[in-house]
Amino acid sequence: MYKILRAEMLADKIYLMDVEAKRVAKSCQPGQFVIVKMDDAGERIPLTICDYDREAGTVTIVFQSVGESTYRMAELKAGDSFEDFTGPLGRPSEWLSEDIEELKKKKMLFVAGGVGTAPVYPQVKWLHEHGIDADVIIGAKTKDLIILEKEMEAVAGNLYVTTDDGSYKHHGMVTSVVEELAEAGNKYDLCVAIGPVIMMKFTCLLTKKLGIPTIVSMNPIMVDGTGMCGACRLTVGGEVKFACVDGPEFDGHLVDFDQAMKRQQMYKTEEGRALLRYQEGKTHHGGCGMCGGDK
Ligand code: NAD
Ligand code: FES
Repeated sequence: MYKILRAEMLADKIYLMDVEAKRVAKSCQPGQFVIVKMDDAGERIPLTICDYDREAGTVTIVFQSVGESTYRMAELKAGDSFEDFTGPLGRPSEWLSEDIEELKKKKMLFVAGGVGTAPVYPQVKWLHEHGIDADVIIGAKTKDLIILEKEMEAVAGNLYVTTDDGSYKHHGMVTSVVEELAEAGNKYDLCVAIGPVIMMKFTCLLTKKLGIPTIVSMNPIMVDGTGMCGACRLTVGGEVKFACVDGPEFDGHLVDFDQAMKRQQMYKTEEGRALLRYQEGKTHHGGCGMCGGDK
């Protein structure tokens, strides 16, 4: 069992939990995810890691209650436990493998949309701890939905906060801040954009125009996180990939976002899943192909 040491509501329907998971905390890296399961009957929920403390043996997760499982998860309190807390899964952020001196020469921009602020945080924190201060944009619909602002402020070079309705700080979507920074003459070598799929799509359209290589995290299209359900199948540079096995991070300029969003909608119904299985045949799953892993 994996004990919850802290449970907090960050904003409406957005929750943070510190979970005692020594083995995961010891080896996880920014960009990776865990799969949590409340009990025997519970769904497997893949969540990107928001923070970790190797000494304390804890991992921090942030989630939004959107369906029955996450709604039930939100009711858990400090002292309760998860039956399963599997990880670290997926590949760490690719820039982690770069030579640190080369990385120090790069100017990096992180674009975080809503709950996507949580997986951006450990990346910016890692860079800060290695002497690199990146620029960060956090965007949310309204003031009350901005999360982790103070935490991000402590590790970012420059932090830009924006709200769609203008209720706090900058007025506009995250892309409007990217545009303003570019117009002001800022040059970036790499952008990491994490948030809703539609936000990552439009950020990538813009950064492509601006000539900034961009990484995105396709975590939102994952369902079981095992490579077996076929939910997170996507096309990257013309090749079939699975977010949970090959990602979750990919070159955003190569991702077919429209296809990913269409599949995400289709995957919600049994009829849609059946059609995808039929159309995609043995490439439907990321595991063993025609194993019927989603049945
Ligand atoms: P949201 O819809 O409130 O959007 C957050 C921000 O993204 C907005 O404030 C805006 O600045 C920007 N945005 C949204 N649509 C845009 C567009 N068309 N063009 C430019 N910018 C746009 O997001 P939310 O409700 O907080 O987030 C929920 C989504 O985030 C879920 O889909 C969830 O799966 C996803 N999420 C993604 C990750 C990841 O790893 N990519 C992690 C956690 C959550
Ligand atoms: Fe099921 Fe990736 S989430 S195959």
